[in-house]
Amino acid sequence: MKKRHLLTIKDLSSGEIVDIMKLARKLKRAPLSRKRALRGKTFSLLFQKPSNRTRISFEVAMAHLGGYALYLSPQEIKMGTREPVRDVSRVISRYVDGIVSRVFSHGDIEELARYSDVPVINGLSDLEHPCQAVSDIFTISEKMKTLKNVTLAYIGDGNNVLNSLLMASAMTGVNMRVATPEGYRPPADIFDEASKIAKTKGAVFEMFPDPYEAVRGSDVVYTDVWVSMGQEEEREKRLKDFEKFQVNERLMRAAKKDALIMHCLPAHRGEEITDVIDGKNSIVYDQAENRMHVQKAILLRIFGRG
Ligand code: CP
Ligand code: NVA
Repeated sequence: MKKRHLLTIKDLSSGEIVDIMKLARKLKRAPLSRKRALRGKTFSLLFQKPSNRTRISFEVAMAHLGGYALYLSPQEIKMGTREPVRDVSRVISRYVDGIVSRVFSHGDIEELARYSDVPVINGLSDLEHPCQAVSDIFTISEKMKTLKNVTLAYIGDGNNVLNSLLMASAMTGVNMRVATPEGYRPPADIFDEASKIAKTKGAVFEMFPDPYEAVRGSDVVYTDVWVSMGQEEEREKRLKDFEKFQVNERLMRAAKKDALIMHCLPAHRGEEITDVIDGKNSIVYDQAENRMHVQKAILLRIFGRG
């Protein structure tokens, strides 16, 4: 790893993403092949928000690698309210060998990392979801058998999931076509930087106001919730603003024949996606499973056991 911490996709190099994916492929075939690799190591999962996939996949990954994962729910630590982030960080890093944290504000995970003596992994912040993105690229390469000339369309909110996906796609040369409503675009600096990196890899990034335009010619169509955790108060407005950005049968007909459907989950059927998520082209459950294999590879790399 360029740095010990994994707070953003940019903490990885393109080469590291490729290596992580190679290792994940091996671990997927033989999940218990490294069962002593992290013996004696403990990771705490310090979460400010709920989680199914991130929490469970990291816990099971640690168990399969012979380590221990300690889940700390939002009610227990109350990071930032019961005590300041820096104290939480200084104390927890005396007990454990690494921290996976899910926070509201990206600033909190940066502070956590700044004061921590042990590696900190971002398990989702308002700005990024790096473990999700590496795993998603892994899933795309698994299903498409290559990342060359693959086009990924993202329809919906310009949020944490998209930000990380843009950077991960750029670094691995996947083309991206993005459609978000006006006012919900990804941050311009992230899109611009990702587009530049994509260019160096021979990939093209484009943004469209119209989701039908964006999915044209795409191999994979990806969406995420319209109302992310922490945005509940904006729900009514968002449901209206995103109305035309639903992934449904009609939209899928505008993509390549048999284009695959991805969603990081949890999904809200009837909002960002219909029951196409249950159809034959949906790969969302393989996508969810792969979180575990990829995160195992990430953990091994962080401890130099990759
Ligand atoms: N995709 C994802 O991170 O799911 P959870 O919120 O359930 O962890
Ligand atoms: N954008 C969603 C992703 C959940 C995994 C959220 O932040 O709630």
